[in-house]
Amino acid sequence: MAYLAPISSSLTIFKNPQLIRFQFAFSPPSPLLARPGIQILRMAMNNKSVVIASSTIAAGAEKQKKRYPGESKGFVEEMRFVAMKLHTKEQAKEGEKETKTPEERSVSIWEPTVEGYLKFLVDSKLVYDTLEEEATSPTYAEFKNTGLERSKKLAIDLEWFKEQDHEIPQPTDLGKTYSQYLKDLAEKDPQAFICHFYNIYFAHSAGGRMIGRKVAEKILDGRELEFYKWDGELSKLLQNVREKLNKVAEEWTRDEKNHCLEETDKSFKYSGEILRLILS
Ligand code: HEM
Repeated sequence: MAYLAPISSSLTIFKNPQLIRFQFAFSPPSPLLARPGIQILRMAMNNKSVVIASSTIAAGAEKQKKRYPGESKGFVEEMRFVAMKLHTKEQAKEGEKETKTPEERSVSIWEPTVEGYLKFLVDSKLVYDTLEEEATSPTYAEFKNTGLERSKKLAIDLEWFKEQDHEIPQPTDLGKTYSQYLKDLAEKDPQAFICHFYNIYFAHSAGGRMIGRKVAEKILDGRELEFYKWDGELSKLLQNVREKLNKVAEEWTRDEKNHCLEETDKSFKYSGEILRLILS
């Protein structure tokens, strides 16, 4: 009959921190010990065969599993973790990046201009047009009609500015370059494309809304643009997209996931440049 009991932790072998869980057994050993990943150590004690099992390998695998911050909650949390670190402290509490460029300063000290804001809105529309056109391809079918789309809302806002006698500028080279880059990724590199997709829509729902409010207070008499309004409850729309992103990423290898996370830098670079237009 198998007998299993914890062994005294005063034995030197148990001082090894690698051996985190022990059991000893008088023959026959528990069938549990035959599981792959369980390391079996044998010792002679009082003429009886003593089996000491450590879960070293299993613990190692678990440790490796927990290597990616946010992983236990799903891939969106991993993307969020990487993105938050790329903010400056002035932009968001969780930010870690050093402030270098004007748009990385606190929005409360920004000095926006209507002309600059219009350039930002026009370039943003080009970027959203691209994302929303690409989402019609079968590869990104999950991300079509999520309710987060911004292109039509921006068209309404630009029309309003026109009615206020503002001249609507052409897209800048920054917007055109980013749009072309996204088109290329959509075709050749879905993981990188999804990184931009996540960052663009989720950034707009967070810092983007705050920027919209502050800029409106400074140069638009507080007028809330359509860009910052959603049909339906925003938190639910975001949650729905989070779940879809997590599901899609479940099919990815670890390398593909890492490739997606590594693209976050570029997403900040392109979006940051377009954001900076507000201050031009
Ligand atoms: C002036 C520029 C920016 C400001 C002030 C800003 C600010 C913020 C703030 C306050 C949050 C919310 C943190 C929280 O959950 O409490 C946030 C979240 C986030 N930001 Fe930014 N951000 C800026 C630019 C960007 C850029 C350029 C990107 C990438 C393109 C980005 C991507 C994100 C993402 C992905 C989140 C997570 C949203 C979520 O939790 O659902 N942000 N940002």
